Amino acid sequence: MDEHKNQIAVVQARLDETPLLSAMAYEIWREHFPPIVGQATVDYLLDKIQSSEAMAHQIREENIVYYFLTFNGEKVGYMAVRVEGDVLFLSKFYLKKEFRGKGIARTGMNYFEDFCRQRQLKKIYLHVNRKNLGVIKIYEKLGLKNVGAEVTEMGHGFVMDDYVMEKVIS
Ligand SMILES: CC(C)(COP(=O)(O)OP(=O)(O)OC[C@H]1O[C@@H](n2cnc3c(N)ncnc32)[C@H](O)[C@@H]1OP(=O)(O)O)[C@@H](O)C(=O)NCCC(=O)NCCS
Repeated sequence: MDEHKNQIAVVQARLDETPLLSAMAYEIWREHFPPIVGQATVDYLLDKIQSSEAMAHQIREENIVYYFLTFNGEKVGYMAVRVEGDVLFLSKFYLKKEFRGKGIARTGMNYFEDFCRQRQLKKIYLHVNRKNLGVIKIYEKLGLKNVGAEVTEMGHGFVMDDYVMEKVIS
């Protein structure tokens, strides 16, 4: 029956929704990243790049656009993207733990692949922590390829030790 079907949607977030996005970021990052990068790095990076103010700054000044991922109308995760010339940077891709493995990321990727086709963008790229092994496997399943490593200085001695992955849009 249609009304019982699990509905997944990608919905652009408004500027006044950064407090909700940020609360989601703190919840998800604190659950997922401490074993991968350590608690101090998680806390530092959350305050630096995922506070409500940091997100609002990215939207206003850095051409970043945030989207909610919804499941049967409930906001269960978020993505953020930026068009950079003829490519799309997928800057954020996070789901609450209990909503992973339901095909929500697959729907999110499909959405932005269509987004790229509509704008003649040639590829989607992202950064993923080198130790985020489960997610790297998921990204490979979603058609992304590892194209190199990149270390980004985040200040105060903190670094992001990432792989760059990309998917060419056909
Ligand atoms: C990365 C993330 C958004 C993926 O979301 P998801 O909803 O779990 O992914 P999906 O259910 O859409 O699965 C995508 C594909 O990966 C596959 N997959 C899921 N879990 C997998 C696993 N553990 N190993 C291998 N493949 C897996 C799925 O089968 C699916 O492929 P298919 O469509 O061909 O069947 C989510 O796992 C997440 O939020 N992780 C924690 C936060 C994080 O690290 N985010 C990324 C930061 S760069």
